Amino acid sequence: MQLIDGKATAAQIKAEIAEEVKQIVENGGKRPHLAAILVGHDGGSETYVRNKVLACEACGFKSTLIRFEDNVSEEELLAKVDELNRDEDVDGFIVQLPLPRHISEQKVIEAIDYRKDVDGFHPINVGRLSIGLPCYISATPNGMLELLRRYGIETSGKHCVVLGRSNIVGKPMATLMMQKAYPGDCTVTVCHSRTKNLKEICRTADILIAAMGQPNFVTADMVKEGAVVLDVGTTRVPNPAMKSGFKLTGDVKFDEVAPKCSFITPVPGGVGPMTICSLMRNTLLAGKKAIYG
Ligand code: GUN
Repeated sequence: MQLIDGKATAAQIKAEIAEEVKQIVENGGKRPHLAAILVGHDGGSETYVRNKVLACEACGFKSTLIRFEDNVSEEELLAKVDELNRDEDVDGFIVQLPLPRHISEQKVIEAIDYRKDVDGFHPINVGRLSIGLPCYISATPNGMLELLRRYGIETSGKHCVVLGRSNIVGKPMATLMMQKAYPGDCTVTVCHSRTKNLKEICRTADILIAAMGQPNFVTADMVKEGAVVLDVGTTRVPNPAMKSGFKLTGDVKFDEVAPKCSFITPVPGGVGPMTICSLMRNTLLAGKKAIYG
């Protein structure tokens, strides 16, 4: 069994990006600039956004954090999105999700100029992904693809089972794993809360992507000997023994599943660190106007 070290891989990629940014700036080019909008004070969102700002520093990017209180109106938020769309210094930006209930996330996502949508959530980017055109790919699936690539894991002709059908992880991951490319060329099955025989399907997986957000859901009896297992789960399970008061817990029961795997990602330190790293790669592409000119 080989552990996939997302933390080390992410650090290496950030160093590669920082080197490229240094070259760009030395040659008189523009330093990439990422802006992030954060609404409210949700603990998870605060941590994610703080880590995104820190990652920008590590990569040599300029970053701008724009904060609103929970009671911001949809109109006010949309006005800020419009301002960032028109700000020539901003190469890409994100609106951290979830948003308060009185604001339509879909409306906000669709208001973002798809050419600055480094999250890859806009329908134009999602649509282009599904037909194999250059686009911003959402961070978590893209991070997993990069891990498969860097660990040289074979994917062609394999059966990939994706657990979870979310718009930002399950669906794009399934699309990417079936595309005519490496990583890709898989036969893909997507399982979800209504799937029958889920255990049996998982047992046929050469590559199992666990992204349903249910801690310790995948047990040893659901995994084939020699399978590759990627764990997207990051549920905060209360644990008084931890300084933070919670333990970040994956969707896979790691201790019993790991011995059966050829490759597996741990939680924390697997897929998680790669997610922010993918956002940095998209920001670099945005800075270089590499996708949409
Ligand atoms: N909330 C959880 N994950 C993400 C993400 O990748 N981007 C944004 N904007 N919000 C999130």
